[in-house]
Amino acid sequence: MRISIVFAAAALAAAPLTAGAQSAAAQWAGTCAMCHGTTGHSMGGNEPLAGMPQDELVRKFKEFRSGAKPATVMHQISKGYTDNQIEQIAAYFAAQKK
Ligand code: HEC
Repeated sequence: MRISIVFAAAALAAAPLTAGAQSAAAQWAGTCAMCHGTTGHSMGGNEPLAGMPQDELVRKFKEFRSGAKPATVMHQISKGYTDNQIEQIAAYFAAQKK
């Protein structure tokens, strides 16, 4: 697990992102990579986030936060992000190839 986190961090650091907002989103998205895979390509059976439309990810994330969507961990994680952060993270994953 430790190795894959380091790898995910290195891969994100190497991603060719220039705009400040984009790289902030990439850093937030790095937290998700721990469970959802690097750039949202899931390897451990969790839902892949890469290529998920932005509005769909935002909707699901907010449903976790409000408790409308049942969760084992996402209801906790989703409480740590503002609406603005969620939208940027969702845009980041929507831009990743499936
Ligand atoms: C500790 C592991 C973990 C982390 C970190 C994590 N997730 Fe999740 N995610 C899960 C699990 C497990 C599920 C399935 C729902 C549940 O049981 O909570 C899930 C489900 C989801 C879903 C719903 C997928 C679907 O199609 O139903 C979305 C969207 C999602 N996560 C987004 C994110 C985002 C965005 C982040 C980063 C901000 C993130 N997750 C970080 C474990 C994680």
